[in-house]
Amino acid sequence: MDSDELQAQVAAIRWYHTIDLGRGVVTPGIDNTPERLARIHLPQDLSGKSVLDIGAWDGFFSIETKRRGASRVVAADHYAWHGVGWGTGRGKAGFELARSASNLEIEDVDVDVLDLSPESLGTFDVVLFLGVLYHVPNPLLALERVASVTGNLLILETVVDMIGITRPAAAFYPGRELSDDPTNWWGPNHAAVIGMLKTVGFSRVDVITPTPSPIFRGARAVYHWMKGKNTLSGAFRQDRAVFHAYKNPGGRTG
Ligand SMILES: C[S@@+](CC[C@H](N)C(=O)[O-])C[C@H]1O[C@@H](n2cnc3c(N)ncnc32)[C@H](O)[C@@H]1O
Repeated sequence: MDSDELQAQVAAIRWYHTIDLGRGVVTPGIDNTPERLARIHLPQDLSGKSVLDIGAWDGFFSIETKRRGASRVVAADHYAWHGVGWGTGRGKAGFELARSASNLEIEDVDVDVLDLSPESLGTFDVVLFLGVLYHVPNPLLALERVASVTGNLLILETVVDMIGITRPAAAFYPGRELSDDPTNWWGPNHAAVIGMLKTVGFSRVDVITPTPSPIFRGARAVYHWMKGKNTLSGAFRQDRAVFHAYKNPGGRTG
């Protein structure tokens, strides 16, 4: 496929991820995915590693792990690929085109996180669980299933709420409380994420993103409030955070 043809196919799809497909073609995603890639601290070298990308959507992170040498990459999703909820009007066409244009061998599996099991999928050296935890009504149950397919390293990115509170706690979002999105359920704080990850079997959990100071959070909250993006108190309490959790810290991945 030449670049004009690829560009035309890209233009016909509503993208979530921003993916550089080569040949001068970059998908016009609503998400600044390259910026988020820098935040998750994905190991540079994944040679020989197996990777599971849960909630893969258009496949940016599946493609990136394959480009970093992973031997087996499985992209898993369901809701976005069926155009349900937040993914309405998008679907799987982006994933299919990005995978074929990047010419990489990436498997895909249509599965809800709650149906993941080592019996059906095996286990993976590295598991990505990015931007999904707050979309599940039962986060501890979901993390149990995620842990069951994780061989060593889990990279988890999520909304966090009630930050600054040291006791493990989580905010519940009835209806459309968070970002006007009814598929958002829980915003745990850092201590709750760490506690849940240890409960489901990870022996070491590192918080990768620094917790912003109250002064920074205050200034950012005023900015978000003035832009109409959030309430003042919500914006002050909330953030996004990245965690690396290890089953076996001695055998660190990457
Ligand atoms: C905010 S998007 C994040 C996409 C991608 N992981 C990223 O970080 O860019 C949320 C994704 O989670 C998926 N998702 C939501 N609930 C899920 C569930 N119960 N099981 C599997 N995937 C789910 C959605 O389909 C969607 O692809």
